[in-house]
Amino acid sequence: MNSGKINGGFSMAKLTVSDLKDLKGKKVLIRVDFNVPLKDGKIGDDNRMVAALPTIKYVTENGGKAILFSHLGRVKKEEDKKELTLRPVAQHLAELLDKPVTFVPVTRGPQLEEAIDKLSDGDVLLVENTRFEDLDGKKESGNDPELGKYWASLGDVYVNDAFGTAHRSHASNVGIASNMDQVAAGFLLEKEIKFLGNAVDDPKHPFVAILGGAKVSDKIGVIDHLLSKADKVVIGGGMTYTFYAAKGIKIGNSLVEEDKIDLAKQIIEKAGDKLVLPVDNVVAPEFKNDAPSEVVEGDIPDGEMALDIGPKSIELFKDTLKDAKTVVWNGPMGVFEMSNFAKGTLEVGKFLGTLTDASTIVGGGDSTAAVKELGVGDKLTHISTGGGASLEYLEGKELPGIAAVSNK
Ligand code: 3PG
Repeated sequence: MNSGKINGGFSMAKLTVSDLKDLKGKKVLIRVDFNVPLKDGKIGDDNRMVAALPTIKYVTENGGKAILFSHLGRVKKEEDKKELTLRPVAQHLAELLDKPVTFVPVTRGPQLEEAIDKLSDGDVLLVENTRFEDLDGKKESGNDPELGKYWASLGDVYVNDAFGTAHRSHASNVGIASNMDQVAAGFLLEKEIKFLGNAVDDPKHPFVAILGGAKVSDKIGVIDHLLSKADKVVIGGGMTYTFYAAKGIKIGNSLVEEDKIDLAKQIIEKAGDKLVLPVDNVVAPEFKNDAPSEVVEGDIPDGEMALDIGPKSIELFKDTLKDAKTVVWNGPMGVFEMSNFAKGTLEVGKFLGTLTDASTIVGGGDSTAAVKELGVGDKLTHISTGGGASLEYLEGKELPGIAAVSNK
């Protein structure tokens, strides 16, 4: 793989699935992140599943038996199992792979072991939701040593391709890994490390980060880390108004984290002219899509709340982005779920699609939904499959799921 740079001050080449020779007949345990939106048994966005196909296909085409592990949602009580079974995911995977997938509705025991014994070379099996193990003492999420050891005993080789889960230290990633001689990264994990890692550690300049979302507290780590790396950090979304409050600009009824105003002041001071804030906003008296709205510059009037960035801000942001060679985008510019306040987010997404000379990286969550809605996904360099994982990666943290992968 490429240099496989890891944020956090060290870099090294990681072992990847293509380094694993002789997969024929081997039982290959693969941790994927199939934590996809599911409603009434129907999968919403299958991006994470599609992104895991290259690794699964590589293993099966080389004669390995692919044994897949994933979590789905958060299993807190027995009744959650009905909603959170991976059965529909197995069915969808079979369609994507165009071959049968054996689904095993348990996470341990003879039924699982026998199903694995029956696999032929090139077959695919999906184990039930690893978080079903959380009902009995958080065994998956608490990385129970016995569970990691047991799952590891089911296979010959372990591949971690679950970037979306890499910020967790659970039995199905870190636990299995610590019981295997060698741990390889799958192609998706490799790709995420390459694009997110290189964007932050070795960016082509100008490097512009564009960060949105409701809370300064969620993004502070990312803002702080990227201020030391980027040439400009553009801020949009609900957290803007905590920065406004820090600058003494009136915010009306807009979202604010009072206890983060001092922090915002410190960021403003540290950032100097690196920080770019919206200059105008779309405001409304109520948090409702059909509330009467108007654009205001500067101070937000009493009784009004800002719900999107305004047209001048859109132009300012485009101007800041236009010569960039690296762009990292995380978080919406306004209340993207309401169509009347989605313009800022959609315009930013659309504009990124025109920056053909730049490496454009979208860091998960709502910004991913925006680029998908716009259909500009294929014009961008990389859309991360990680939500929390990509945020922590952009903060420069070492992710346990990646740290557990063997070095070359
Ligand atoms: C995600 O969707 O961010 C990952 O799959 C991790 O899920 P979790 O936040 O429930 O651990």
